[in-house]
Amino acid sequence: MSVCLISGFSRHVGETVTIRGWVANRRSSGKVSFLIIRDGSAICQAIAEKEAMDDFYEEIRRLPLESSVIVTGKVVEEARSPGGYEMHVSGMNILQKSEEFPIGKKEHGPDFLLGIRHLWLRTPRQVAILRVRDALVRYVREFFYKNDFTLIDTPIFTTTVGEDSSNLFSVDYFDLGKTYLSQTGQLYLEAAIFGLGKVYCLGPTFRAERSKTRRHLTEFWMVEGEMAFFDHKDNLELQENFVSYIVQNTIRDMADELKKLERDIEPLKKIVPPFHRVSYDEAIEILRKHGSDIEWGSDLGGDDETIITQLFDKPVFIECYPKKVKAFYMKQHPEKPELVMCADLLAPEGYGEIIGGSQREEDPEVLMKSILDNGLDPERYGWYFDLRKYGSVPHSGFGLGIERTLSWICGLKHVRETIPFPRMMYRAYP
Ligand code: 4AD
Ligand code: MG
Repeated sequence: MSVCLISGFSRHVGETVTIRGWVANRRSSGKVSFLIIRDGSAICQAIAEKEAMDDFYEEIRRLPLESSVIVTGKVVEEARSPGGYEMHVSGMNILQKSEEFPIGKKEHGPDFLLGIRHLWLRTPRQVAILRVRDALVRYVREFFYKNDFTLIDTPIFTTTVGEDSSNLFSVDYFDLGKTYLSQTGQLYLEAAIFGLGKVYCLGPTFRAERSKTRRHLTEFWMVEGEMAFFDHKDNLELQENFVSYIVQNTIRDMADELKKLERDIEPLKKIVPPFHRVSYDEAIEILRKHGSDIEWGSDLGGDDETIITQLFDKPVFIECYPKKVKAFYMKQHPEKPELVMCADLLAPEGYGEIIGGSQREEDPEVLMKSILDNGLDPERYGWYFDLRKYGSVPHSGFGLGIERTLSWICGLKHVRETIPFPRMMYRAYP
């Protein structure tokens, strides 16, 4: 008997095939059982009749949800069935009768579900989110591939602080003392542009953030691009093309999954270049007009970002923040030394920052001052200064958080559902 995936049923209509999976749902009468079988590729309805199954029928009728089964039967077209096909069962092998599954039809709280994340992952909503994540990452890679970027795998153990010394995870590293789990691959990408021009990395990133917001994980995936000969303006143009590309392709391919998540994709269809550009100074004015008591010089908080994104139907770049609220490597503004040539990209519908990016400081003196002002140890940045000595060029880059972007695309309230096993301040299990 040929084994096939449920997703391949269209090629087997009228044939008898075998599928392998789990009982996702079941209802039965005295004479016929309707089983919803999930095999990881799709779901289908399998119909088992008492007459064909003999004594075995009673066992099928009482099969607990999530039992693992191998089912053989004829594939029949049936428009009313999920997926458009159903299987008329002629044989079934029960691999394991499941214990009572802890996730049922009633509402469960997030703590309960996160504690059994390993089981929660197989439920339809979570499966849909993971499929959208897969598509999103595929289009991220495809964009870079089509635009002549080379993938660089940057290290996880680092000796230089990449972003912010206040939220580092440190690790004892043999006789060399402390190393840190990477907060960004950026500094290493900056080294790679001198051989490869345009590069990107995509990997896990670690931040010991003591924040319990819907936007923060302690381990998240970031994709970062770094480009030689790109200035601030070129950087923003690339980012708006990039975000539009990943959003449009993902929503086109994943329409069924997004529907399952009850995501209205109309607002996402508007995500095409150009995006809005607002200076930090203007943002402060806008916020104060909308009742915020933010002062010039502070970073925008989550609530401030929410206010701004609700005023626009497309993503907004907030450009040129004060130097003192941003990372040490950002290029000083040529006319206003208190600002840097950076931009955060805020996603609409209240989602807020999904990208942080900037042109990089090339001037070794300005860079040294900035390293010292940030309380960092210049000794550890010897190699980074070398990049300003051997054929230095203007260059820029950005980093996009996969989970925040996915949370926006899927219309989720919290980033914790966008990663298979979320790591947060109070959760590292399972
Ligand atoms: O703005 P960030 O800190 O920028 C950087 O790390 C730069 N080195 C990027 C670069 O220029 N190459 O982080 C970039 C993005 C944020 O906009 C956000 O989407 C995501 O990473 N991010 C987080 N996502 C989830 N949980 C957290 N704790 C995050 N911190 C940042
Ligand atoms: Mg940022």
